[in-house]
Amino acid sequence: MQVLVIGSTKGTGNALVRQLLADEVAVRAMVRDPAQAAALEELGASVVVGDLEGDLDGVVDGVDAVAFCAGSGSKTGPDATLRVDLHGAVRIIDACRAAGVDRFVMLSSMAADDPLRGNERIRHYLAAMHARDRILATSGLAATIVRPGGLTHEPGTGRVQVGIPRLETRGTIPREDVAAVLARCLADDATVGATFELISGDTPIDDAIAEVVAASG
Ligand SMILES: NC(=O)c1ccc[n+]([C@@H]2O[C@H](COP(=O)([O-])OP(=O)(O)OC[C@H]3O[C@@H](n4cnc5c(N)ncnc54)[C@H](OP(=O)(O)O)[C@@H]3O)[C@@H](O)[C@H]2O)c1
Repeated sequence: MQVLVIGSTKGTGNALVRQLLADEVAVRAMVRDPAQAAALEELGASVVVGDLEGDLDGVVDGVDAVAFCAGSGSKTGPDATLRVDLHGAVRIIDACRAAGVDRFVMLSSMAADDPLRGNERIRHYLAAMHARDRILATSGLAATIVRPGGLTHEPGTGRVQVGIPRLETRGTIPREDVAAVLARCLADDATVGATFELISGDTPIDDAIAEVVAASG
């Protein structure tokens, strides 16, 4: 299997690249700037240049699955959220359908089910996530949607809590643990169709995925 990781240069996407390679899954890492290629190639990934606001020609061609982990970041306003997080993702979903790439794992956000759950400062972002997740879920692709709480740079613990489809409590989670969950979803087609929230917890990741599969089946 070869997975295209979008948002591969930093944060959760970069942790996912490392996790997949450790699991001996081939990775095609998308970068905006060719200068970012060497660091990813050193890890063992192949690299494709693409920009969610620009040229995406051929980036999904020939891969077996896409993991979308990119985003415009918390310091940008609604314009960039629409251009990158929403429209960029929709372009990738469309490209997957055109290229026959069926499997798609989306890094979304807690409260994307109901943007009114979030505080006013991030409502535009949650509204974009809500629309994006809905477009993916109805796209016909074999999708899994993962909605974590606040992301941290702490080392992964391998233990999480899932809410299917939502948690009644807020919380945080290390990016490494989110990446491990995304990799586990990519490896298990029984997670197709599942949408769930995710924070740190006491449950080993494999058991949490089993909960997701049981609840979504
Ligand atoms: N922060 C949180 O607490 C939180 C909570 C829940 C969900 N999330 C979701 O998790 C996502 C990932 O967050 P993160 O902090 O792990 O990642 P991050 O460090 O913000 O990294 C974002 C990635 O997106 C890429 N990117 C940005 N604009 C792009 C474009 N136009 N074309 C292609 N790639 C582009 C960046 O590439 P460059 O290196 O080129 O900039 C980078 O690889 C967020 O976007 C958000 O949707 C975040």
